[in-house]
This record gives sequence, C-alpha cells and structure tokens, in this order.
Amino acid sequence: MSDATPETIYLKDYQPFPFQIAQVELTFRLKPRATRVLSRIAFTPNPARPGRHDLFLHGEKLKLISAAIDGKPLPDSALAITAGGLTVAAAHLPQGPFTWEAEVEIDPEGNTALEGLYMSGGIYCTQCEAEGFRKITYYPDRPDVMAPFRVRIESEMPVLLSNGNPEGRGKGWAEWDDPWPKPAYLFALVAGDLVNLPDRFTTRSGREVELNIWVRKGDLDRCHYAMDSLKRSMTWDEEVYGREYDLDIFNIVAVDDFNMGAMENKGLNIFNSKLVLASPETATDLDFERIEGVIAHEYFHNWTGNRITCRDWFQLCLKEGLTVFRDQEFTSDMRSAPVKRIADVLTLRARQFREDMGPLAHPPRPDHFVEINNFYTATVYEKGAEVIGMLKHLVGDDGYRRALALYFDRHDGEAATIEDWLKVFEDATGRDLTQFKRWYTDAGTPRLSVSEAWNDGTYTLTFAQATAPTPGQAEKPARVIPIAVGLLNPNGDEILPTTILEMTEGTQSFRFEGLATRPIPSILRGFSAPVVLDRKVTQAERAFLLAHDTDPFNKWEAGRSLARDALSRMILEGEDPSGQLISALEAMAGDDSLDPAFRALCLHLPSADDLAQSLADAGHEPDPDRIHAEQKRLAKAIAARLEPTFERLFGAMEVHGAYAPDAAQSGARALRLAALSYLNRIDGGARAKALYASATNMTVRQGALICLIENGTAEAALADFRDRFGANRLVMDKWFASQVLHAPPADAPGVAARLAADPDFDWKNPNRFRALMGGLSANHAGFHQSSGAAYDFYAGWLIRLDALNPQTTARMSTAFETWARYDAGRRAKARAAIERVLATPGLSRDSTEMLARMLAARQT
Ligand code: BES
Ligand code: ZN
Repeated sequence: MSDATPETIYLKDYQPFPFQIAQVELTFRLKPRATRVLSRIAFTPNPARPGRHDLFLHGEKLKLISAAIDGKPLPDSALAITAGGLTVAAAHLPQGPFTWEAEVEIDPEGNTALEGLYMSGGIYCTQCEAEGFRKITYYPDRPDVMAPFRVRIESEMPVLLSNGNPEGRGKGWAEWDDPWPKPAYLFALVAGDLVNLPDRFTTRSGREVELNIWVRKGDLDRCHYAMDSLKRSMTWDEEVYGREYDLDIFNIVAVDDFNMGAMENKGLNIFNSKLVLASPETATDLDFERIEGVIAHEYFHNWTGNRITCRDWFQLCLKEGLTVFRDQEFTSDMRSAPVKRIADVLTLRARQFREDMGPLAHPPRPDHFVEINNFYTATVYEKGAEVIGMLKHLVGDDGYRRALALYFDRHDGEAATIEDWLKVFEDATGRDLTQFKRWYTDAGTPRLSVSEAWNDGTYTLTFAQATAPTPGQAEKPARVIPIAVGLLNPNGDEILPTTILEMTEGTQSFRFEGLATRPIPSILRGFSAPVVLDRKVTQAERAFLLAHDTDPFNKWEAGRSLARDALSRMILEGEDPSGQLISALEAMAGDDSLDPAFRALCLHLPSADDLAQSLADAGHEPDPDRIHAEQKRLAKAIAARLEPTFERLFGAMEVHGAYAPDAAQSGARALRLAALSYLNRIDGGARAKALYASATNMTVRQGALICLIENGTAEAALADFRDRFGANRLVMDKWFASQVLHAPPADAPGVAARLAADPDFDWKNPNRFRALMGGLSANHAGFHQSSGAAYDFYAGWLIRLDALNPQTTARMSTAFETWARYDAGRRAKARAAIERVLATPGLSRDSTEMLARMLAARQT
C-alpha cells in the first residue's frame, strides 16, 4: 500500500486468519547493515475458515532472499509481492499442513523509525507492537495468530536475549524457547554489550524465577529501584489477582532510543531507559513513581495482554485499559490511594477530556483506523481504565473479583474481544451490560447537570446527561452512569455515607427521605464516572466542602473548582483575585492533619490548558496571554497573603536523613516545593538560589532550577547543571525541557530555537525531541503566541522528524489538537502550519492521518 492512498481498516471486516501456526523457528544472523532472518513456520488449515485460501504474509521493507514450501523453493511466479506483503496463491499450497521457509535481509542500522529490529547506541533491539514484526520477516502479523516461538541468535555480541526460557548458548550464538503461544507483536530480541543486575523471585507455588535488568556498563547502580518495583509487582499480582509468573526467567532491558515508554514482550520487556534508570541525584520523585508504575504495568501485561491477548487492534483497550487499571490499583496500594486518584483524574482531564472534546475524539474501542499506532491514545488507555472502574462500581468488589477469575479461566491462551470481556461480567454477576457497552463504542464526555429540591424532609437530586456529537457520531444515547454520592449536614457531619446511584435514563431523579435539615451533597465522589459535572454551586458551598468533605477526592475537587471559577472570572471579567479561594487555601495549606502530598495538590492551580479547555467548553475563545497573566496575578496574590504559612512549610517540610522516593518523603518535598514556587514570586529568587546550591537530590535541584528559570535568573545554575550532568542523557533531557517549558511565554519560541541549535540537541533521539518540542507545546502561552512563531517552528520540526520517525512525529503532532479553540488570528496561523506539514511530499501515513483529522475540526 502506498502512503499516498491510506487505506481505512474496519472492525466489521474482521475475519479469522485461514491458517493456524503450530511452531515458529527463527534464526537471526546479526549484522548492522545486513541482518539475515531465516524463518520456518508450520502452518495448518484453520477450521474456522473452511475451504482453500491464499496465504498472505505481511512484510515491509524486506529483501527476500529465498522462499520454500515443504522444502521446495517457490518460483517467482508463485509469489505476488507488494509493499505490504506477499501472497502465495492457493494453487501453490498443499491441501493440509505445510511448512513455510524463508530467508530475508534487513537493515537494523538504517531503521530510524525504531519499529522492527533496530539499533540503539550499539545495541540491537526490537519493537514489534503493533505492526513491527512485518519489518523483521514475512508473517501473519496480527494478534489473533498465536504460536510458540524458538529463536536462534548468531552474533559476536556478548549478550543475546529473546523471549521465553534459555535453551543453550555458546560462543557467538544463543537459543531461546518460548512455550507459550503468542502473537508476533510480543516477539523480542536484544543483542549487545550489556551488564545485568541479577535477582530472584520465588512464586507462591514454588517456581524459581531468575530476574535480570540489562543495561549498559556504568548504569548498573541506577537499576535497584526498578528491580525492587518488579518484585513488588510480582507479589502484588499473586496476592490481588492470583496471577503467577509462568517462565523460568524474566528479563528487562533498558535502551536509549524508544518511541514509547516500555513494551511487555513475553519474558523480555524492553524499556525506554528513562523508565528504568534512577538514582536520587539523577531522578525526581515523580520519575521514581513512574518507574514503579510502568515496571508494574508491563509486568501485569503478562496476564492481561500476553496470556490473554487481543483478537484485533480494535480491542486494544481490552489489554491497555485493564492493565492501566491494574497499575493504578497497584500504585494506590503502594502509596496513597487518594493522592493517586487525584493524579489520575488530573491526567484524564488534561489528556483524555482534551482529546474527547476535540477533532481526535474516538471511542475506547474504535471501529476504524488508518494507522493503528495513532490509537495508543488517552482514550484507549485512560478512559479504558475509567470504564473498568465504573464496571467495578456497578458490580461491586466481589462481583469484580469473580468476573476476573472467570476471565482468566475462560480466555487463557486466547485472543479475546470487548464482547468476551463484558460477557464474563454478565455471567459472573447476572447483570445485563447491554447499555453499559456504550462506554466502549461511543466517543465523547457526557456532561452531567444536577439540580436539587428540598421539601419537608425529602431531598431530591435530579441529573440530566448529554453528550455532544463527536466526529462520525451524531447520536449519543443515554449511558449507565454510576454516581457516587454522600450527604453532609450543615455542621459538617456526614449523614449519608458514599452510595452509588445508578443513572440509566437521560434525566433521572433520586430521593433521600426523612432528613432533619437540608443536606449539602457531595456528588461524584472519587470521580466515579468520567463525566463533566455541571452544577451551580456557590463559592461558599465549595469552601464548605473543601473544609468538610469526608471524601478526599471531592475535598480536593472543591478547592479545584473554587480556583477554576475564580480564575475564569478574573480572565473574563477582570475581577480581583478571590478572597474566598485564598482563605480556603490558607486553612487547607496550614492544616497539618492533612497529608502533605494532598496539600501540595491543592496548591497547584489549574493549568493554562485546563482553563482554556473549560473556557472553550463554555463557549468562549480563550486568550492564552490573558490566561497566563491572570494565573500569575492570582499566584502572586496567594503568595502575598499566605507568606507566613509558606515560610513555615518551607522550613517544616524539609526532609532530613537518607533520601527515599516513598510517598511520605516525596509528599513533604512536593509541599515544600509548592511553598517555594509561591515564595519565589515575592522573595526575588533568594530561596531558590540557595536551595539549588545546597540540593542533594534531583527533585529539589530541579524544583529550584525551575524557579530560577521563571525568574529569568537561571544562567549560572543552568551552566552548573550542564557541568554536572552533561554526560547523562536522561538528566540533560530535563535541562532541555525545563528551559522551554518554564520560559516566559514571549521568549519561548526563541529559547526553543536556540536550544535546537545546541550541539547536544540530538533530535533523532525521541526522548530529546520530546523534551524540547514537548516543553514548547506545554508552554501554553508560548506555543500559542499570536505571531504564530511557535506554530511555524514546531511544524518545521515535525516535517524534519517525519522523514525518519513517523510514529513519534504523529504523536507529537497532537500539540495542534486544540487549534480550533482559539481566535481567528491564531486559527489561521495554526491551520497554515498544519497545512504546510500535510503538504510535505512523502509525509508518512501516520502523520497524514493525524493532521487530516485535526484539520477537519473546523472549516474557517
Ligand atoms: N504495549 C505498550 C507499548 C506500546 C505502545 C507499543 C504503543 C507499541 C505502540 C505498553 O504496555 C504501554 O502501554 N506502555 C506505556 C506506558 C504505560 C505505563 C501506560 C507507554 O509506553 O507509554
Ligand atoms: Zn500497556
């Protein structure tokens, strides 16, 4: 298929593959520019597709050396080869089982797309999800074709790894055997000059598992936290889900060049090094938390993804939504559940709500795509996880446990669908989930409006749900929405503990009888459904809930909406910074009975993009400059009023003793740095400067550095930072990102351009590219400068990267996702930038699909 005529794939066209595979044998003769891949695949007819069929094997950018069936070389006339694969006509195939053998040549060093077999810093590695295996050899590269793999690697590299258990090794070769049938996207191979951090784990049934984290020499001392996280993940999955590991060995490899975060290849997870390597001096508390969460996520895929995989890529949220849900549960168990929930909702709103309200909106289970790599989205991941959270609310903890046990029991070894998933919940609990399924098939974020009535001891809550049309979906029938509600007395006592109301109609009322006084409701506790709550609430009631709500999520949410309302009024009406908000924050920040991490979250004001989203949602054209100015004005007013509180916290939250990346210490550091960022607005930068100089860990060092950048006084600190960490790629990513992200908006495009010309701007490295360009697009007023300078600069770099790495380019193009929100002047400039990228000759299918969808947003 040519990139010029991208073909759309539809869920409704699914058909099983006409053949099954009994065994795959692969031999790799590794050479940087000319690797030979020999394959032997034992095919048998698939009873699900009776009759005679052609054999179609995917294959891209392969040089075919030879092909044979049952030992007989195939003449050229028997093969039809296109850019997407190869077909052997049925007439050339034996009627029963047969063996396909082929030899192909590939070029790992020339593979800049980082998909298939490629080289990263001298290490051979693979990335096959979603459709990268077809760049390694001819194969039915689809997840419903599962097979056991045997792999032989021939190379002079000292460490040779693949999936499964080691079968043997000698000088220049190694063999691996993976007994568990798997789809090709889980294949992995690594060869390099690596060293390992070894460890062991004994499963609860007594299997001895060898654990290794493989890295380059010099990085070994930064693997301990990842290893510790792995062992805790293994224990947790046994205790909470009853899932044990199923091979004798589990390997993790860290590589520097990686399009994504990490990949769950069976028995051989491959990670972006930023999600493995950490020491107190080089990684922040947030980095440690992410490492723990991603190690868990990829490990959990061993059951939710690998043992039970997806029938086709439309079912992606079957494995990703569920595995995100599981890693979220794990992190709440390891750390603070309320803090984790708030952080997850912040991400959901920032990424998924943004997606759902814009031109890229799609359901958690899409029904068509052009390039599947473009569907590893916040909707598939984060909303996919929220949908499972709602299911759990509806069937209860016990129902969830029984449904999951049935899922593993019924579908182990299979490639399953969302229908299979919902069926286990129906069968385990007796519930009808027909209406619930809409959460999987419908795009868009429902808006839930609330009205209330009080009459003679009876309190009535009435909800109405409405979802705006999304691309390709005009009709939005009512969904089932679990609404967690609690009621408080005016004196702050809880009179109704959290109760789940099940809304199934477009409009529906719920009554609470026999109450002595009119209650104050706490609605959507724990954010029980991914909806926008629309309720007219006074600032006084929000302040009351911030002070009294027993649900920690809604307590935070009350403060959040207080701040959002205050800022919206400041932006739209030029009001003075709200006194109510500031007093409420003062009471909260100074309350030492509250978790410091929670208080830090409450002190973070809504982001500019968040404000722009809610303004746009309310029908305004957000003005990025005004948003920025009012954010600054509010922060300064808060700093001035709360100076004594912040001074006290800055002292009291200092952590003494050995560094630990745990919830307690990182919470204290987060609150201290939140206090610092306010004080920094009124102390001329004195504290930040001193703190930078005395910092003993990266969390504090980076926090202080950001303050200095915001003040425009970071020159010396930036030079010092580079002196200390110039040789550490991951730390230098922070150096690049911080300077652009925290630059005064007017300077942002200039700072970005200067950094892009820096000799250390290795733009072919995805982490480095994301650091600089992601920093720019996240500098809201900087990116959306009315001159369009940042749009142009950004578009130029998208064009440049697309020629090498379409996947990362397409992901980065979502910086333009919100372009249609802004005023006509900005829209025209953004549109021109998008059109310039789209007009690039030879632009990848990945970027073409994304940019074309974004452009369809608005015709002005
Ligand atoms: N299976 C994915 C990795 C992947 C994504 C491969 C897209 C190919 C295309 C992996 O399990 C994953 O989800 N990784 C996430 C991190 C995770 C914690 C959400 C990632 O890489 O960002
Ligand atoms: Zn995943």
